[in-house]
Amino acid sequence: MAGNWKMYKTAAETAAFFEKFRPLVERSEHCDIVICPPFPNLPAAVAAVCGSRIEIGGQNLFWAQEGAFTGEVSGPMLVAVGARWVIIGHSERRQYFGESDESVLKKTVAALEVGLHPIVCVGERLEEREAGHTQAVLLKQFRDGIAGLKPEQFDQIVIAYEPVWAIGTGRTATPEMASDVHRFIRAQVDTQYGKEAAARTRILYGGSVKPDNIKGLMAQIEIDGALVGGASLDAISFSSIVNF
Ligand code: PGA
Repeated sequence: MAGNWKMYKTAAETAAFFEKFRPLVERSEHCDIVICPPFPNLPAAVAAVCGSRIEIGGQNLFWAQEGAFTGEVSGPMLVAVGARWVIIGHSERRQYFGESDESVLKKTVAALEVGLHPIVCVGERLEEREAGHTQAVLLKQFRDGIAGLKPEQFDQIVIAYEPVWAIGTGRTATPEMASDVHRFIRAQVDTQYGKEAAARTRILYGGSVKPDNIKGLMAQIEIDGALVGGASLDAISFSSIVNF
């Protein structure tokens, strides 16, 4: 269960969140719990989860280790601050910051090289779904953004299916819609990396996940977890998603 805080909260608000959130998930051992705050709040978040099962991630990284890349943050920097995870290729990165399947692959490889767990995001836009192109879009995102990984690299990633039309809109994919796409993605994994890899891969659903729809989503055998935006900003709401 991963929370994507996007561009929300200061360091003080981060500390306040974890003070409330930690006791609420103290006994939750059924899943990994990850929060991805904005870069400046990583130290506060790492300090706040020390001694708990909660892990911290970045929302992006650049593929070079260091260099003249103004405004970017590297994998080694995330590791040094204590992050264990990183979101890659979120639709907002693709939409507003020009990320492509090619950059997603480069970033994923860079994250793996420093031992971070990448959460690689894929998903179709509304017009693509309405035109009946959902599978073609996902196929391309998988082929160009993921399938270039070696099997031992692929083993370390988590995939997040986030239909763009469901992000921040209050419009969730129905559990069946999400499940159909997850099955399709798993079939691509099967073709590329084999049956066992397909069975092992964790595919998260993301897009308007809330405390009142998480049960239905998680009841689907194809859905292994959730990547949560808005509802991860509140300790009570995210803890009830974690403890669905
Ligand atoms: P949302 O965002 O839960 O606010 O729809 C999900 C995401 O963008 O990861």
